[in-house]
Amino acid sequence: MAAIMKEVGLEKKSKGRFVVFEGIDGSGKTTQTQLLCQRLASQGARIFATREPTNGPVGQLIRRILSGSLSADQRTIASLFAADRTEHLMNPESGIRHMVDSGTIVVCDRYYFSSYAYHSQYMDMEWVIQANQLNADILKPDITLFIDVDPQICLKRLQTTRNHLEIYEKIDIMKQVRANYLAAFHRLEDQERVVVIDGNDSVENIANAVWSQVCLLMQQETT
Ligand code: TMP
Repeated sequence: MAAIMKEVGLEKKSKGRFVVFEGIDGSGKTTQTQLLCQRLASQGARIFATREPTNGPVGQLIRRILSGSLSADQRTIASLFAADRTEHLMNPESGIRHMVDSGTIVVCDRYYFSSYAYHSQYMDMEWVIQANQLNADILKPDITLFIDVDPQICLKRLQTTRNHLEIYEKIDIMKQVRANYLAAFHRLEDQERVVVIDGNDSVENIANAVWSQVCLLMQQETT
């Protein structure tokens, strides 16, 4: 165990890490988030698995809008996501900033690249990036792992696993969101560490590709 801990750099670690998963709806990123957390926990790492939108008051409001039971202007929705994120970062007990500072590896299912990809369907991406500048200043991910899956495959998965599709779960939107993700990665390539992982592979192979990236991150940052 100690050897493996050393291999992934957990032994020397005093500060935590912030690992983010991104992908279009139905890409399997939630499964990958869980698998990575299990693997890190089995190595003895202190981890905190979380997601956006959060379960906090702003996140709950967002969920009602996503389900279609409340309606709101797209600019309002984008602003709500940015506010939910600030609280997610800064909450004094469960905030990501505090967790990372106290040595925890935080694994988050979606972060600000989701905002860039989803809301730039309706407004300029620069506006969305600006609306999240405060969040980026508070904490950038150490790595963003984008699970890249064909939108047609994602939609099929959603149709077989869900009774009710949310407002962004339509093929044209999903294709556009994927293109927006790639544009955002290109736009911010000198500021962000993003790895695109082929998500059309088996769950196990994707998990192994994720693990290799996380091991690399740990080793690089502790040397
Ligand atoms: P999920 O819980 O299945 O990942 O769904 C969350 C939905 O919220 C998904 O359609 C993407 C959307 N979303 C945004 O539109 N903006 C954001 O900033 C985030 C985090 C999610």
